[in-house]
Amino acid sequence: MKRPIAMIAGTGHTVPRRVMTNDEFAAMGIDTSDAWIRERTGIRARHVAGKDDTLTSLAADAARQAMEAAGASAGEIDVIVMATVSPDHLLPSAAVEVQAALGASRAAAFDVDAACTGWIYGTTVAEGLIATGTAETVLVIGAEVLTRIMDWKDRNTCVLFGDGAGATIVKRASKGRGILSTYMRSDGTLAELLWRPAGGGATPATPESLADGTFWIRMQGREVFKHAVRSMADACDRALDAARLSSDAIDLVIPHQANIRIIEATAKHANVSMDKVYVNVDRYGNTSAGSIPIALDEALRAGKIGEGATVLFVGFGAGFTWGSMVVRF
Ligand code: ACO
Repeated sequence: MKRPIAMIAGTGHTVPRRVMTNDEFAAMGIDTSDAWIRERTGIRARHVAGKDDTLTSLAADAARQAMEAAGASAGEIDVIVMATVSPDHLLPSAAVEVQAALGASRAAAFDVDAACTGWIYGTTVAEGLIATGTAETVLVIGAEVLTRIMDWKDRNTCVLFGDGAGATIVKRASKGRGILSTYMRSDGTLAELLWRPAGGGATPATPESLADGTFWIRMQGREVFKHAVRSMADACDRALDAARLSSDAIDLVIPHQANIRIIEATAKHANVSMDKVYVNVDRYGNTSAGSIPIALDEALRAGKIGEGATVLFVGFGAGFTWGSMVVRF
């Protein structure tokens, strides 16, 4: 089947109101500093869910904006694909909670667990559903409340993450606009470099796992960094090759926002100057599955993606998973 088959017809995003600066970690007794965090990651602040924020409330708010932008009502949504690793409940899915919040009475709903690559995976699934005629209107959400599953005493991770939701409506392509290529990969042999050791069926949550921190996200940052740079660089090449485009044809790169150094290394490999790369990691930190759709919505609303613009998306996350996508707007 010839692409484009599906396009992004509307976007939205929401972050919690509370902004937490780097200096607040030191004030909490964490052995870190604003200078270290900025120099190693580019992060200056992140948004943190307050007691009234849930994954569902953030995701539903972002979804309503995307629906409004696309002119799609809740009743028109055929499928909700929810990319997240921080659901409000382990059972049932986060997607059905959003389905209920939106009143999307006709929609099927399920989660995609691909960490920071989740929105790329979810949008690829949406394209397939549209290609087969299973769905006409798919709501793809990437959303996280990572601050609820990270160890606030672990300086290796707690300074990196933030909360937020991005949403997109995917519909049948029109006028040559839409998804030109997609690429997805995984390597579960490296899972333990970034994971939650306890809390699942294999090692249920216990007072010990809470005390020793294995219930929370654990990460070997330096190793993750190396794999992220290598895999995101490769993913850029794959999506460009599949779209039969060179990097000169790319108007904007929207990478997963984990670390400015990873973003810069990816841009260098792709031969794209940093003024064509969307960056908001300084304001949000790493919002995992939320990061790419939040950046996309910001870029669209700021007028950085004109009609006919070609955008390269690239992500990498726990699993490991990685992937990319070229989309014409
Ligand atoms: N403040 C101060 N010092 C710290 C902090 C902190 N917050 N965190 C770690 N350190 C220390 C380490 O303990 C280490 O000390 P040591 O040398 O005495 O052991 C030292 O700083 C240097 O550690 P490195 O790991 O070499 O630092 P690096 O330059 O690699 O930066 C970082 C660490 C920021 C975590 C980096 O490796 C990174 O960004 N990795 C990728 C992480 C990532 O992107 N994860 C998410 C991708 S997947 C997803 O999004 C779910």
